[in-house]
Amino acid sequence: MSMLSDRFFLTTPLYYVNAEPHIGSAYTNMVCDALARYQRMTGNEVCLLTGVDEHGGKIETTAEKAGIDPLSYCDQITAKFKALWELYKIKYDLFSRTTDPHHSEVVQAFFRRVLAKGDIYKAKYKGLYCLACEDFKTERDLLDGKLCSIHQIPVQEYGESNYFFALSRYTDSIRAHIKSNPGFILPRFREGEVLAWLEEARDFPISRRSVKWGIPVPGDEEQTIYVWFDALLGYLSPFIEGADLEGVLAINPRIQAWRPSAHIIGKDILRFHAVYWIGMLMSAGLPLPKHVFGHGFLTKDGEKMGKTRGNIIDPIDLVERFGLDAVRFYFLFAIPFGNDGDFSEKVFIDTCNAYLANRLGNLVSRVLKLCETYSGGLVATEYTSDPESETAQRTLEGLRLYREAFEAFDPQSALTKIFEVVDFLNLRFTSKKPWETLKNPESRLEGIKILFETLESLYFIAHQIMPFTPGLATRMLAVYALDQPLPLDQLSWNSLRPGQNLVNPGALFSRI
Ligand code: MSP
Repeated sequence: MSMLSDRFFLTTPLYYVNAEPHIGSAYTNMVCDALARYQRMTGNEVCLLTGVDEHGGKIETTAEKAGIDPLSYCDQITAKFKALWELYKIKYDLFSRTTDPHHSEVVQAFFRRVLAKGDIYKAKYKGLYCLACEDFKTERDLLDGKLCSIHQIPVQEYGESNYFFALSRYTDSIRAHIKSNPGFILPRFREGEVLAWLEEARDFPISRRSVKWGIPVPGDEEQTIYVWFDALLGYLSPFIEGADLEGVLAINPRIQAWRPSAHIIGKDILRFHAVYWIGMLMSAGLPLPKHVFGHGFLTKDGEKMGKTRGNIIDPIDLVERFGLDAVRFYFLFAIPFGNDGDFSEKVFIDTCNAYLANRLGNLVSRVLKLCETYSGGLVATEYTSDPESETAQRTLEGLRLYREAFEAFDPQSALTKIFEVVDFLNLRFTSKKPWETLKNPESRLEGIKILFETLESLYFIAHQIMPFTPGLATRMLAVYALDQPLPLDQLSWNSLRPGQNLVNPGALFSRI
């Protein structure tokens, strides 16, 4: 990656392979893919990193129960994640696996570097541990009966002699960084929570004696490195090359250029990213990410999803039943990114039908039909494009607001801006009745204007909707004989050429 070009490096979480991928994982990756696709259309150099988190006691136990060795187990589940990203059209550039031998070398080199800095020491630890969180809990975090408040499973008594990371040395710097960089923590309303965690942050153990499935602590084969200390470095390891890893960590220009634009994660793991990880990076002298975005949680019919409740949404089944465009559209449109959101099949179906079939799909098919009937399926020779027209102004303003929303990590608003233009086009179309004016030679020009201005606007919409519904957008672009979107800067209000053939792509979206 060059250091000069505007580069956008986005990461998804590295998903635990202790279970098959679920809709929560798919959700984050849909959003990240939309953000990355948008950035590619702006002409920025984009790197989207996703991957899997494969070590730790939770995965060790799951593999043991399944009766297979941990690595074969990880391979199986990792293949399922990759297949899911294929199904969901997630265009990632890097796939990080924490079982990659190269990753282990990077983690060990990082450990040695932080140790040399004097930020790792050995001490005895006693505490309560939730295996599902892979995290320590205080009494305050627990429900009655010593249950983890997130997973509702009993926590375990834990007491070992471990290596500790001296997080407390960095809490002041982290706090100062947050305060002097508004928007470092996103959405902004989560900042207070992070500052409160910093007040309580203590040095934490970064090794385990009791866990075998992990990266050995350099110089102490009795212990493995704590799964979070290991996994967070999965954002970095694919960028490090070369044998002299410690030297490389210090001077490799790729590392200096390595600076995530944003880590996109769920709110449940914000503390690891906004506190632990930042401390680790500060200790090693590495660049800090520009943003850490903690999004909300999905519920099903208003209830928390869980295996025991039996209300888990299967991401594969959803696409098989309703198609990918519908699924991507719903999750990106109906859930304000950053807040919690709900999925109910009825709301999902109604929303997709209302927006994709009724508002957008119908408009495109009505316009193309009139164009076939009154203009031979070609852009009429009498049509002259007017950049001062209200439709042009609304469309260009819509594009500006759309870009503003995307730059602010708000794909939901970006999608809303698209539909504000679509609603305008529909209203204008209905009130101006081109199907009547086109019939009559005296008013034909008026009809032509409505028809082709609508088509010019839809040309923009075809591009703008690509990050959300790639299948539908591809069909829309085909109307204009494009097989991929142009860079957004190249869109201008004179895209239609008189005599140009307009291809009818058939139904944009089949009603559910
Ligand atoms: N392995 C760690 C992340 C390490 S990153 C270096 C992990 N994995 S996870 O598989 O448990 O969770 C991955 C992501 O899925 C988290 O961002 C989490 O917030 C998200 N979700 C899990 N359940 C979810 C919902 N019900 N709704 C939305 N997102 C959810 O944590």
